[in-house]
Amino acid sequence: MCFETTRLVAQLFSKGNEMTAFHDGRAEGTKGEVYAELVRQAKGLFEGERDVIANTANLSALMGYHLPDLNWSGVYFLKGDELVLGPFQGKPACVRIAVGKGVCGTSVAKRESVLVPDVHAFPGHIACDSASNSELVVPLLKDGRVLGVIDLDSPNTNRFDAIDQQGVEALAKVLVDACAW
Ligand code: SME
Repeated sequence: MCFETTRLVAQLFSKGNEMTAFHDGRAEGTKGEVYAELVRQAKGLFEGERDVIANTANLSALMGYHLPDLNWSGVYFLKGDELVLGPFQGKPACVRIAVGKGVCGTSVAKRESVLVPDVHAFPGHIACDSASNSELVVPLLKDGRVLGVIDLDSPNTNRFDAIDQQGVEALAKVLVDACAW
């Protein structure tokens, strides 16, 4: 990251006299430690900001930047009986997904996370990016209502495990609590 960008990032993360720790490199440590750090950074990014688009955009970027081996990181919002594409990092993706369809729509229908080790073995998987081989979808739940999903795709088969699921579920809760939906 160039100096000017680093300075801008530092300003973005500055809260009064306290500077939230942030560095140019990816979050390091065990997978659990990385998610704990991302939860901390997400809370810092969302502090004082309730806008859904702004916060989902920053969460997509945070995950896309820090989590290794991803080719897509983003959010879909539930509108009526369809998911509609929200902020993301990665190649352009399908815009609308019906509830019950694909991995994302299945997560909404079940109101639970869906971890897919091999997307080619998931009936009805929607291939937005042919590079994707595994996927993790976590619903955004508020008072039992589904607001949308977080979707992560990887070019690696079997990229996601229970630690990823718990970590992204923790990030989903931070996002839901932070925004005015
Ligand atoms: N694979 C998803 C579609 C969304 S893209 O991966 C970004 C699905 O099956 O629902």
